[in-house]
Amino acid sequence: MKVCHCNRQYFYQILGVAFTALKQQPRIAELGVLRGENAARLYDLLKPQSMLLVDPWSSAATALSIQSSDDPVPWIDPPQAFAYYYGGDLADQATFDRLYEDCRARFAAHPNVEIMRLSTAAAIKALKQRAEPPLDLIYIDANHQYEWILRDLLEWSELCAPDGVLMLNDCCHSPAGVRQNLGVLEAVSAFVKRSNFIPVLLTHTDWSDLILCRSAGVMELLLDQVVRSIDLRYVEVPHQLLPAARVVQSSHGINISFK
Ligand SMILES: C[S@@+](CC[C@H](N)C(=O)[O-])C[C@H]1O[C@@H](n2cnc3c(N)ncnc32)[C@H](O)[C@@H]1O
Repeated sequence: MKVCHCNRQYFYQILGVAFTALKQQPRIAELGVLRGENAARLYDLLKPQSMLLVDPWSSAATALSIQSSDDPVPWIDPPQAFAYYYGGDLADQATFDRLYEDCRARFAAHPNVEIMRLSTAAAIKALKQRAEPPLDLIYIDANHQYEWILRDLLEWSELCAPDGVLMLNDCCHSPAGVRQNLGVLEAVSAFVKRSNFIPVLLTHTDWSDLILCRSAGVMELLLDQVVRSIDLRYVEVPHQLLPAARVVQSSHGINISFK
């Protein structure tokens, strides 16, 4: 696994090079969309054949994704702490209706973008009835709690093409991440033990992004070749170290430590 000095947009460009080498115009999905800003970046950089956007845009679902218990614990911030991010009160459904409308307007002129206003669990049930070709990139950024991420990984990986990739946002253990009850790193660590996917690229950032592909497949080789052929600094570590990764603050910024 390469820990790379870059952000997630750079990873999109790397994936773009890999899909071009495979002569593939990718079919992509984003799970957890908010106002569609990241989806628009994915769309512009990867020029997908089709894009699926999945989000319930629901106050109830999001409250559940932050504090899942009615007996809140002090180390997790209350939903109100994230009003700035969602652009309004999380207890008010109107906040989510506005986000949905922003996203819809952003993609109104793109007939190859489908918006499913559903939870990831409901969307996958609907998709499995459709028998469509598999997805080449599944970007997972919905409910970040352990059980949900593990479920998204196990269920959605079934829709991933043999040379496709899964990408996860917020795959880190950091002081700020703890305040959000992130379970992404723990869930992907469990998923890797249950599947033939391995982590191959991790951003050297807080709120890290992680790319996974199938072990010993074409995509693993291709991503290795692409990263080694461009001007990108990285440190390579055994992928089995991923569960130990944590973000450590120094006076010059953040570092990823495996200690
Ligand atoms: C971190 S935001 C996504 C940000 C977006 N991917 C970006 O990078 O700009 C998380 C999103 O997940 C959505 N969400 C929460 N629970 C969900 C679920 N069960 N299924 C799908 N989306 C969910 C929320 O509505 C919210 O829009």
